[in-house]
Amino acid sequence: MSQAAVIDGKAFAAGLRARVGVAAAAFEAKAGRKAGLAVVLVGDDPASQVYVRNKGKQTVEAGMASFEHKLPADTAQADLIALVERLNADPAVDGILVQLPLPKHLDEQAVVERISPNKDVDGLTPTSTGRLALGLPGLVPCTPLGCLMLLKDRLGDLSGKDAVVIGRSILVGKPMAQLLLAESCTVTIAHSRTQNLADVVRRADIVVAAVGRPEMVKADWIKPGATVIDVGINRVPAAEEGKTRLIGDVDYAGASTVAGAITPVPGGVGPMTIAVLLRNTLVAAHRIAGVALEDQAL
Ligand code: GUN
Repeated sequence: MSQAAVIDGKAFAAGLRARVGVAAAAFEAKAGRKAGLAVVLVGDDPASQVYVRNKGKQTVEAGMASFEHKLPADTAQADLIALVERLNADPAVDGILVQLPLPKHLDEQAVVERISPNKDVDGLTPTSTGRLALGLPGLVPCTPLGCLMLLKDRLGDLSGKDAVVIGRSILVGKPMAQLLLAESCTVTIAHSRTQNLADVVRRADIVVAAVGRPEMVKADWIKPGATVIDVGINRVPAAEEGKTRLIGDVDYAGASTVAGAITPVPGGVGPMTIAVLLRNTLVAAHRIAGVALEDQAL
């Protein structure tokens, strides 16, 4: 049995962050200020706190300014929107990310819609999603863009390939499908109501699993030689009492014996999200400042 190549997202993300760091220094020299990213966290969800801390740390490491706004869980909708409006108007801020999910009493869509499209580094506003659907340049959600970077790095031209995206979320599945379509893939979006999912996945040259169900995608669903991108980050009990471990949406051990290449969990797609967020912030900063971005490869 052959063993799939491991797609090292951790190493790719480190390389991307380094290139962003070089470009961020060049931006500062030209614009006379640092590029800035504001992250808004409402409430005290432990996983979100970890993400937000990592975002802040990596933003500073890349030579950009980080602004963290932590609001209590019972923050009113109007107060959150007022903060977004202040950040929209703040010349030190090029990117705004409101960490999702928000507490239940808040209307996520209404908050996201208030983010200025120029600063929408998450790519979630109707303007960004509309531009992506239209094939126009714009800011694209970080996780799917990171997946696309890994796929192009591995496969080169994606044109004509059969791609199956499992999951239809606003953050990953839908934008992923749009990005693959723009690369001239034949794209299927599968989801919880899809019939004969295993057969659908078996057609795919490219599988992107983004459902949030631990090891749902089995080895015998994978076409031999296919490229498998596992977006899942599921925390499950570990063998050792009281400990947990992270696993993906794909049965990694099994799929590795069939696939041509596969992303591990952790160390695959996960590290790409923040690296692309920094990249998006830098792209937004250049547009806002009217400065040309020299590194077109970013
Ligand atoms: N929560 C988990 N991933 C993301 C993301 O990419 N953006 C935002 N805003 N919230 C998230």
